[in-house]
Amino acid sequence: MQYAFILGRVYTLSIAELIEVLQSHDITFKILIVSIEVLIIETEVQIDHEKLQRELGGIIKIAKIIDFIKKREQDSINFALQNYFKPSKLKKDYFKDYTGKKQFGLSIYLLDQTVKAFGEPRRLGMFIKKGLQDEGASIRACLPEYNSLALASVVVTKNLLLQKGAEIIVIAGIDRVYVGKTLIVQDFEDYGRRDYQRPIRDEKQGMIPPKVAQIMINFTQAKKGSTLLDPFCGIGTMVQEAVLLGYKMDGSDIAKFAINGSEKNLEWFKNRYKIPAGKWKLEVADARKISEVFKGEKFAAIATEGSLGPIYGSLPKPALMEQNFAELTDIWLDTFKEFKKILEKGARVVVCFPAYKLNDQDYMFFPAVDQILELGYSIHDHFPEAVKKIAPFLKVTERNSMIYDRKDQVVAREIVTFINN
Ligand SMILES: C[S@@+](CC[C@H](N)C(=O)[O-])C[C@H]1O[C@@H](n2cnc3c(N)ncnc32)[C@H](O)[C@@H]1O
Repeated sequence: MQYAFILGRVYTLSIAELIEVLQSHDITFKILIVSIEVLIIETEVQIDHEKLQRELGGIIKIAKIIDFIKKREQDSINFALQNYFKPSKLKKDYFKDYTGKKQFGLSIYLLDQTVKAFGEPRRLGMFIKKGLQDEGASIRACLPEYNSLALASVVVTKNLLLQKGAEIIVIAGIDRVYVGKTLIVQDFEDYGRRDYQRPIRDEKQGMIPPKVAQIMINFTQAKKGSTLLDPFCGIGTMVQEAVLLGYKMDGSDIAKFAINGSEKNLEWFKNRYKIPAGKWKLEVADARKISEVFKGEKFAAIATEGSLGPIYGSLPKPALMEQNFAELTDIWLDTFKEFKKILEKGARVVVCFPAYKLNDQDYMFFPAVDQILELGYSIHDHFPEAVKKIAPFLKVTERNSMIYDRKDQVVAREIVTFINN
């Protein structure tokens, strides 16, 4: 069986997360091809796409590959597929049985950014629609805007495409086209709810987006049901996401108001998502003395955002960046010494450090990572060599960390996965 995973904007994180999660589910898979938009795998067994989609913060859609068609370099996508999308084929392999007016959507993803695809979704979509209409079908096409190639997951959901027909997925490379249909899309509404509908928000300290929290928790590779820790928990985003992924997680923060916020948010979360009691504990605590608060306890892993220092609208002077880093160095070195007392050997510590964005490609990175390594940690490389070979576009730093940033952000998050040796 072949499946396509449509990657989120920060595709390097999406790919790393997907590999970790497939491995943690003991799914034997082979990566057939990967681009900055999509990753296709082959598996022996059927995947549980609903479960996987719920767990993957970095994946936008999961599709089943139905066919593979060879294409000549000079041919347009439409030309390559002109004999493929017959009404009988669509009815048999793509469309859900539905008695009302059928709807379908069409999205094109590229395996190579040089493939010409402008306008192709509309041309192909109209061709498919006409073929079906000529056979007497009552059909509505939902196609991407002219300047885009793919439908956002929100459009697929709002138009009930998966219930009333299908979303056809075309994955085009220079010499090949994969075609398939979407099985499930990311539940954008629920992510929004988990972020914005919580009773307490903290714009000043900042909150980690739930999707990124999910990715970091998946990076821990901890066994489901085990207990994790977030010692800089703020208003509890990481705790909430860990519990949804099937873990227990304790949270602590030096600020009483943050813990009060976490308590209120997690009470809301417990009611909203019908979570049984006993999945978390919250404490006011300085991370530099965390072992005193959680005396005698061992955690399966740590996932935490930590303090990113002040958030700037424009790049601060180098001296200021250095000063911020110096303050964080003191906190992190003491904290990593404490982690040794509460972690098993081999346990992972997934953290965010601030990275100052100097220009489109360059960042000023947190300088104390080498000192952390000297305490008896190593950095986990999320990408097997074979993947690096077929994905030279991965954005991994020299120290095997990855960056999560937004377009106009000066302070990005550098995500590092340490292993306690
Ligand atoms: C960026 S916020 C974390 C936000 C959190 N991820 C969320 O989504 O709500 C960093 C947190 O670290 C806390 N903090 C700073 N220094 C600390 C220390 N020494 N020990 C524990 N918490 C600390 C701050 O109070 C703040 O709540």
